[in-house]
Amino acid sequence: MADLKKVDPQVFELIKEEEKRQREVLEMIASENYASKAVMEALGSVFTNKYSEGFPKKRYYQGNAVADKIEILATERAQKLFGVPYVNVQPLSGSPANSIVYLSLLEYKDKLMGLSRDFGGHITHGGPLSLSARFFTPIHYELGKDNMLDFEAIEKLAIKEKPKLIICGFTAYPRIIDFKKFASIADKVGAYLMADIAHIAGLIVAGVHPSPILYAHIITTTTHKTLRGPRGAMIMVTKKGLKKDPDLPKKIETAVIPGMQGGPHDNQTAAIAVALKEAATPAFKKYSAQIVKNAKKLASELIKFKFNLVSGGTDNHLILIDLRNKKANGAAAALALELAGIVLNKNGVPFDSLPPYWTSGIRLGTPAITTRGMKEKEMVKIAKWINEAVDEVSGEEMPEDKESRSAYWKEFRNKIKSNKKLASIAKEVKALCAKFPVP
Ligand SMILES: Cc1ncc(COP(=O)(O)O)c(C=O)c1O
Repeated sequence: MADLKKVDPQVFELIKEEEKRQREVLEMIASENYASKAVMEALGSVFTNKYSEGFPKKRYYQGNAVADKIEILATERAQKLFGVPYVNVQPLSGSPANSIVYLSLLEYKDKLMGLSRDFGGHITHGGPLSLSARFFTPIHYELGKDNMLDFEAIEKLAIKEKPKLIICGFTAYPRIIDFKKFASIADKVGAYLMADIAHIAGLIVAGVHPSPILYAHIITTTTHKTLRGPRGAMIMVTKKGLKKDPDLPKKIETAVIPGMQGGPHDNQTAAIAVALKEAATPAFKKYSAQIVKNAKKLASELIKFKFNLVSGGTDNHLILIDLRNKKANGAAAALALELAGIVLNKNGVPFDSLPPYWTSGIRLGTPAITTRGMKEKEMVKIAKWINEAVDEVSGEEMPEDKESRSAYWKEFRNKIKSNKKLASIAKEVKALCAKFPVP
């Protein structure tokens, strides 16, 4: 059969273009990574062709002998790597994984309690307009004045609201999560505790972040962030979870199908199996430790340039910067940084006066650049470039009046495109990137 280049040169060229982009910039979106060639090979395999609704040995369609083997292999690898008795590898991504858990534990309008999105929680943890808020009753905790988890306030809120489910694990929280403290609160009010470790799963299996396995009843994770696999997700039940409710695996399976999904993506399952094998190696442990070392070094360098880091620093792979002292907004800074070859995202910061579309902050992470082999020495250069790029947009404050924002943005975008300083940083970034190949 003809290959992609012949069948569809347009798509082929776009893939080449994206390869080039990924090669020539610093990918610093905290939730992104470079999957290995082996993971990609499994993802692009003939498992794409198969339908296997159901679970191993209990399928609705024929021809699943091999699909069963791949799903069992992925499941067993995950059980061993995370140290949990039950794993479901079928959720198509992190958001459906969380919805599947809600569907298996909660009735319509039951209360679930998670960190507010405005403080670093994920949208699926009860965020406005999400399924989790439309079909259930979200209760939100916030961070304390020091921008750290405030367990006294969380406990008070849990006692007052008695949620059926408490969620910990976040999207933009740069500090260690004390799962034991969350468990003591959940146990006190009789709630299920779900740890959404999407961001930190790789750090956990490598032992550079504490694990929730002794404390949570259910764990959800994506497989494509620090775990460095294909886009996908898993749901795990711990021993503690089985003790609280031995039917949890059955409830989760029913919530997967027919509750939320149809057939699993077997090619994705195959690629997850590969990523789990990679994550069990000593090299992966070393890699994960370097992610944190790089983030800490980058944080300390940014502080030297008077950047205001939310919570004052980082313990994990990500850094959240409040740009208000730099008189810059998140959207302008993110665009300027992209033009300088540093790709990250605008992000709300605690007590942000701007909405999520504009924001007063940016979030950045080290998983992808660490995959390329960058170390502390490179972090010093990156901090300098970030400082220079943000300097270019200092004074870019978002108009207070909402109506004027789109006109402001149009003008800003036109102006910044031809900024010479940003173009010269981009050249230096490209030269550095050339020394660190992508997988
Ligand atoms: C904590 C957390 N949970 C869930 C998700 C959702 O994952 P997905 O984008 O795969 O749906 C994310 C995504 O960023 C996340 O940060």
